[in-house]
Amino acid sequence: MKGVILAGGLGSRLQPLTKITNKHLLPIYDKPMIYYPIQTLVDAGINDILIVTGGNNAGDFLRLLGNGKEFGLKEIRYTYQEGEGGIAEALNLAHNFAGDDSIVVILGDNLIEKGIKHAVDSFQKQGTGAKILLKEVDDPERFGVPIIDGDKIVKIEEKPKNPQSNYAITGIYMYDNSVFEIIKTLKPSDRGELEITDVNNAYIEKGSMTYDHIEGWWTDAGTFESLHHASNLVAEKRDAPVTS
Ligand code: DAU
Repeated sequence: MKGVILAGGLGSRLQPLTKITNKHLLPIYDKPMIYYPIQTLVDAGINDILIVTGGNNAGDFLRLLGNGKEFGLKEIRYTYQEGEGGIAEALNLAHNFAGDDSIVVILGDNLIEKGIKHAVDSFQKQGTGAKILLKEVDDPERFGVPIIDGDKIVKIEEKPKNPQSNYAITGIYMYDNSVFEIIKTLKPSDRGELEITDVNNAYIEKGSMTYDHIEGWWTDAGTFESLHHASNLVAEKRDAPVTS
């Protein structure tokens, strides 16, 4: 399994913070945002990592992270997305890197309290298809939202006005290698992007999508409210007494 962190896009919802830097280099409490998804992958046992970035400050990732020594890595790979054509477009840039392997994809602005090793191990046993991770939220209309029938996800709606469940599809996705064939078939959405939700719906239609629930907190950090919230959650976690 290889890991891909998507840290492209222009972070327009965070202007003017993102006027002179990339969203994923902004601080979340005591570390730059990009540290968190890297640590999530490393903690899940994934050491072969590609960062997809973009914009005017891509070189700063290299200055900050180098070869990932701080995370115990031998090497980090980087690639560059022109513009912001969507999450699935950014993911497509990982095609060469993935080779014939399956991948775990994390959006660069997604943070979690606990690990994903359990889900990654279970996807490895699954072997093919895809797996997504869900979290119950108060504001599902901000996210991809599953329509669930019994214990099956029948469809995902991207930012629905009338969400059919209280779950968000988190920005942590596991895919077999056919994901790149699926991306080739996508058309841009109304917002002009290749949508990851369309990728996920293709797996659902093929009957090869599974899901798990994320334990502990999960948040994105792409708006002022969620950026602030993420910092508070990390600060509380640092201060919490260690339990075994
Ligand atoms: O956070 C989870 C949500 O992320 C999901 O529930 C949604 O289904 C999914 O579409 C996405 O929604 P957002 O609207 O919050 O995505 P956003 O445009 O903020 O992009 C999230 C990350 O994806 C961003 O931090 C970097 C990466 N990205 C995004 C775009 C549009 C890229 O690398 N390239 C891009 O072109």
